[in-house]
Amino acid sequence: MDCRTGFVVFLSLIGFTFAVPVKFIDCGSSSGKVDLVDIAPCPSQPCQLHRGDSYSVNVTFSSNVETDTSKAVVHGIIAGVPVPFPIPNDDGCKSGIQCPIQKQQSYSYMNSLPVKTEYPTIKLTVKWELRDKDNNDLFCIKFPVQIVS
Ligand SMILES: *[C@@H]1O[C@H](CO)[C@@H](O)[C@H](O)[C@H]1NC(C)=O
Repeated sequence: MDCRTGFVVFLSLIGFTFAVPVKFIDCGSSSGKVDLVDIAPCPSQPCQLHRGDSYSVNVTFSSNVETDTSKAVVHGIIAGVPVPFPIPNDDGCKSGIQCPIQKQQSYSYMNSLPVKTEYPTIKLTVKWELRDKDNNDLFCIKFPVQIVS
């Protein structure tokens, strides 16, 4: 194997081994600030989500508010139309966050994104919000995905 092939193999091993930060759009995190979004496994972007598989989502953010509750709201935006995207547990305080959430502190929100076998194989945008007790967004992120069979 020559140097260049070795380098490519090395790069793809990195891609499979470590989570790569996902490119996201902030869609109005009014009560917090997003630092990093990780989806695993996602070796190339947009993330390819296989039907029947489950993906881990890790959003690192800091809060500007104190709140004793947090609730996740997830939509799939298909041709401009937001469709509710069910997740197993929408309680942020049971998703890696120790509540009450404090001001100016950093948190990692961890959840899984199950991709049902009956979903169509399309490209869509996932919009993931975490709302504080006043229904403001601790984070609001959008990222493109491709559902594949
Ligand atoms: C989530 O991401 C943060 C930032 O990279 C990291 O410190 C944390 O360990 C991750 N959590 C898990 C459970 O992977």
